[in-house]
Amino acid sequence: MVSLLKQPHPRETRMIFKNVDRPGWKPDIDSYLGDGGYEQLKKALTMTQVGVVDEVKASGLRGRGGAGFPCGVKWGFIKQDSPKPIYLICNADESEPGTFKDRYIIHQDPHQLIEGMVISCYAVNAKLAYIYIRGEFPEGAKILERALAEAREKNFLGKNIQGSGFDCEIYVHRGAGAYICGEETGLIESLEGKRPYPRIKPPYFPAVLGLYQCPTIVNNVETLCHVKHIIRLGGAEYAKIGKPNNTGTRILCVSGDVQKPGYFEVELGSLNMGEVINDLCGGMKPGRTLKAIIPGGSSAKVLRAGEKYKIKEKGPDGAMVDKEITLEEIPMDFDTLAAVGSMAGSGGVIVMDDSRNMVETLANINEFYAHESCGQCTPCREGSLWMQKITRRMVSGEGATQDPKVLKSVADNIAGKTICAFGEACAWPTQSFLAKFPDEFAAKAQKNVTPREVSDGVALQGGRPVLVHDHEVAAASEGGVPEKIAPWELSNASKAGEI
Ligand SMILES: Cc1cc2nc3c(=O)[nH]c(=O)nc-3n(C[C@H](O)[C@H](O)[C@H](O)COP(=O)(O)O)c2cc1C
Ligand code: SF4
Repeated sequence: MVSLLKQPHPRETRMIFKNVDRPGWKPDIDSYLGDGGYEQLKKALTMTQVGVVDEVKASGLRGRGGAGFPCGVKWGFIKQDSPKPIYLICNADESEPGTFKDRYIIHQDPHQLIEGMVISCYAVNAKLAYIYIRGEFPEGAKILERALAEAREKNFLGKNIQGSGFDCEIYVHRGAGAYICGEETGLIESLEGKRPYPRIKPPYFPAVLGLYQCPTIVNNVETLCHVKHIIRLGGAEYAKIGKPNNTGTRILCVSGDVQKPGYFEVELGSLNMGEVINDLCGGMKPGRTLKAIIPGGSSAKVLRAGEKYKIKEKGPDGAMVDKEITLEEIPMDFDTLAAVGSMAGSGGVIVMDDSRNMVETLANINEFYAHESCGQCTPCREGSLWMQKITRRMVSGEGATQDPKVLKSVADNIAGKTICAFGEACAWPTQSFLAKFPDEFAAKAQKNVTPREVSDGVALQGGRPVLVHDHEVAAASEGGVPEKIAPWELSNASKAGEI
């Protein structure tokens, strides 16, 4: 795997990435033990299990996989005396476009992850854990297998770990490479050997009914690595890093139109977007200006340069006051990114300059989501495909004047109406691109055609979108269901006009 960055930037605070790209560092257990490795596991094993959970709660650690859910709170849902087995799953699917951090931890510091996982297993009383790794990471899987064997040999895994009486085993499970396998309940189904169809929540919150219907904790690779450092520092001390409610460090994966893209570990909220671009990444490409940023992986809502964003800040008297800031002034933390209408997500920061056409960019994103929908629920299965077809059409110069309206209608009818958050993940880009760049969408939607003339795409019928296909269009636009449309092209919901 190619390293993107050899020297940490002076503005970085490397905790999880301390050993990544470190000269002379090897991902083996000797390097790790020479660096104080597994000392925090030994320390944790002298604490009570509840004591470890309490430290993680006190640290304020929030999940780094996407939703930013407080890790200690999630662990608190587990009843340690459950009569059923308890499982821990490390989510190493890393499937969100724009995200490339977990793979570097696995490649260069696998023992950090293993130590974090064994401590976490101890905390929630899980005797068995899995690392679910993306199918496209065969080298990562091999490195993990090797590291697990080394840890087993030194009794950091297995029976009676370090004489503590605690038994724990970890297995690597390779996925086949599908975005939806990163969604925790889809992942669990896949691990059980089934098609990765996400489960309806509730009742299937993994902490209650997870793997094999047993209590299960699913955490991201980076999240689990932080646990070791929480034990090292103590929860309260760890909580001093970053900002209140946004504690610790986080790895940002910056890609797109900057001079030096790469990964950077920073204290949460310590840098704003302008500093990330200009200080960490050497600025925009020569002669180019910032146009937009997707701050948390491709599913996060896009933010436009030149706009003012409203946030709340503590005033001199301690009361919260409204403040307007520019895109460049937005601090990179969970709460602020949510307040300005996007999210910190998986840490994948995608920077776009003024050379980018936003319809083309959205079309690219829509290709991905149409391909990756698992197909279980109608709005997502059909809608992701329709959005792909419309943006494809617009990019090819065939955009009809009603396309932006139809596109918005399709996206609005996916978000909030599906089994899993993929629905939002695929709708948010379309909704936000349309809202932020209406002129560019209007410019690519110039053909003044009636629905009957729209080929291979989607048209409005009675205000609702329906799929239309060349010669079948006439029937569709006249209110009937065209007989010639193959069943796989038109869902039951769209036949009934009920998207
Ligand atoms: C469509 C979709 C894809 C996801 N992909 C990933 C992924 O690749 N890696 C990951 O850690 N979390 C992913 N998540 C989030 C997980 O469902 C889950 O929230 C996360 O693994 C929990 O870990 P955390 O609390 O440590 O963040 C995805 C969620 C959705 C809806
Ligand atoms: S929202 Fe999409 S990905 Fe999620 S279960 Fe439904 S069809 Fe599958």
